Amino acid sequence: PSQRTALKDRARALLQQHNAVLVAHYYVDGDLQDLAMETGGCVSDSLEMARFGRDHAAQTLIVAGVRFMGESAKILSPQKRVLMPDLDATCSLDLGCPPDQFAAFCDAHPDRTVVVYANTSAAVKARADWMVTSSCAEAIVRHLHEQGQKILWAPDRHLGSYVQRQTGADMLMWQGDCIVHNEFKGVELELLRQEHPQAKVLVHPESPKSVVDQADVVGSTAQLLKAVMTMDAPEFIVATDNGMFHRMRQSAPTKRLIEAPTAGNSATCKSCAHCPWMAMNALQGVIDCLERGTGEVQVDEPVRTQALGCIDRMLDFVK
Ligand code: 13P
Ligand code: SF4
Repeated sequence: PSQRTALKDRARALLQQHNAVLVAHYYVDGDLQDLAMETGGCVSDSLEMARFGRDHAAQTLIVAGVRFMGESAKILSPQKRVLMPDLDATCSLDLGCPPDQFAAFCDAHPDRTVVVYANTSAAVKARADWMVTSSCAEAIVRHLHEQGQKILWAPDRHLGSYVQRQTGADMLMWQGDCIVHNEFKGVELELLRQEHPQAKVLVHPESPKSVVDQADVVGSTAQLLKAVMTMDAPEFIVATDNGMFHRMRQSAPTKRLIEAPTAGNSATCKSCAHCPWMAMNALQGVIDCLERGTGEVQVDEPVRTQALGCIDRMLDFVK
């Protein structure tokens, strides 16, 4: 067998031996996604990953994704062992929102309800009233706006401004962005659409407004996958991390999928269209964490209990 098959078989055997379940994001390596599907784990967006990990009976969760996903799993299931293939896999949104600076921002605006995106550290979540993911941000902010609440939003400025336009809510925003989605380009997308007039345009809301404005569907990774599977169109232009294409191709093999343009579909842009942190997840990492107990996620108990409130509020809302 090829080396990949051998690694996959080894990881599969270890998962079984340790009664562990693999919870993967759509942007990670295709072999990891396939292994999760084949072993009763899950491949999904950040909301479903959190729910799946919380509800699964396994006492060991392997979270293949980025740090905040592992932390959310640990916050929701402190009694479980949560392991990650590479604990250094972070996110530019998380890095760009240091807890102390965020706390000062909140302190300066005590009249606002604090809503944070899932892509933040446990310490930032500990300061928040609500956590949201891209799949429920709009509905939750609309709900708060209808109750007359003013919002402090962090950290993704593109998702924040999209939600603001959709809901009309009063939102004071942190100015973070995703280094991957921030690179999608509106003008180049217009040109590509002219070449593919039948194509539907699917956009993750971490993308800039000039790209979101051209979308037929704006949504989380799971929502974009659903659109490819259910929309009656032969072609789709997809503005999200290209790790997403693996599952889209498997789920809709007859559809033509086209990557949305970035400035550097060239050597100049290393992070374009594929997240360097998601790319740190590999089969070998799954093997190492199960064999040697590496990559265990820890969250300090006071921070965990504080952060749990905003995650539970979201999970109750989306029930
Ligand atoms: P989803 O919740 O839509 O999967 O997004 C997570 C993410 O990090 C997108 O870049
Ligand atoms: Fe963070 Fe962007 Fe990577 Fe998602 S794709 S984990 S938002 S840097």
